[in-house]
Amino acid sequence: MTIHANTSRKLIDQFGRQVDYIRLSITDRCDFRCQYCMSEDMTFLSRDEVLSLEECARIVRIFVQLGVNKVRITGGEPLVRKNALWLFEEVGQLSGLDQLVLTTNGSQLAKHALALKAAGVKRINVSVDSLQADRFKQITRTGDLTQVLDGLQTAINTGFDGIKLNTVLMRGINDDEAEDLVAFAVHKNIDISFIEEMPLGDVNHARDSTFITNQDTLKRLQSKYTLLPSTHHSGGPARYWQVANTATKIGFISPHSHNFCESCNRVRISCKGELFLCLGHEDKVELMPLMRMHPNDDQPIIDAIMNSMRIKPKGHDFDLKRAAPAVIRFMSHTGG
Ligand code: 5AD
Ligand code: SF4
Repeated sequence: MTIHANTSRKLIDQFGRQVDYIRLSITDRCDFRCQYCMSEDMTFLSRDEVLSLEECARIVRIFVQLGVNKVRITGGEPLVRKNALWLFEEVGQLSGLDQLVLTTNGSQLAKHALALKAAGVKRINVSVDSLQADRFKQITRTGDLTQVLDGLQTAINTGFDGIKLNTVLMRGINDDEAEDLVAFAVHKNIDISFIEEMPLGDVNHARDSTFITNQDTLKRLQSKYTLLPSTHHSGGPARYWQVANTATKIGFISPHSHNFCESCNRVRISCKGELFLCLGHEDKVELMPLMRMHPNDDQPIIDAIMNSMRIKPKGHDFDLKRAAPAVIRFMSHTGG
């Protein structure tokens, strides 16, 4: 318990950007093997290589003391981690935290939606790349569409502040479903974001042939829907459009454009306790050894986090044609 918590301390980097949002991956494991995210035969980290749930809670508590008011729990698939609910319950009670949100593949949502809501989860992003069962199976390798749609429906019925679909479109694989996915979101009164595929991890998948820009997707959707530019902003790489006369917003997350970097408000923490300052850079600070060295004293961790603000890069650059991926780490490890 910190007695003299200095609540005026904020995380401000050398470009004047305040970090008030963290994304924490609580496991590298997942019950799916999405083609763009994992290889078929992933080796996962062993138990002592990943943060314990207590360590996850400690990290979040420290960041919240430093002015962070939004936390996204991600993975891998966060809900496959044993006792994950405990963490949501702990974090959900932190005062100063306004937005506890979750990114999930939906496979366990039917089971957990109610408890997540009770723990204080406000919003949920569910990854859905296809509404065709066989295609869904092909993209996720092990996923079951019915199970995911059941989970999604349970979450909708549970009544969160917001539910959003996340879709990675790939040319020749699922790009012909953009309109159907939007129609589905409209029908369910939820939002949908299209995420450009990022060159993360060595997944043996030829990305320059499947890569499709959000500009192409937007054009395609505009021929079917009236889209009104929305002023909604998340501080991230997303631009939003309202589907006219519906409750649905469409987000376009374009990590390849850098024009959002100047308003970047976030950092990521991997399940190994690595603090990544930018999605497209390897710059990181190892928090796990510090935490294990100082189990009862937060100050060294606070100092490390404060100091990390000096190395938060101005922006990033991905190049699809580069021989090796720009960033070798997998999304499942860093957190999407
Ligand atoms: N490019 C873009 N999105 C990715 N995701 C995982 N790997 C990638 C990648 N290489 C997305 C998933 C999910 C979120 C957690 O991150 O589709 O929606
Ligand atoms: Fe699992 Fe999400 Fe990666 Fe798919 S994209 S393998 S659901 S972590």
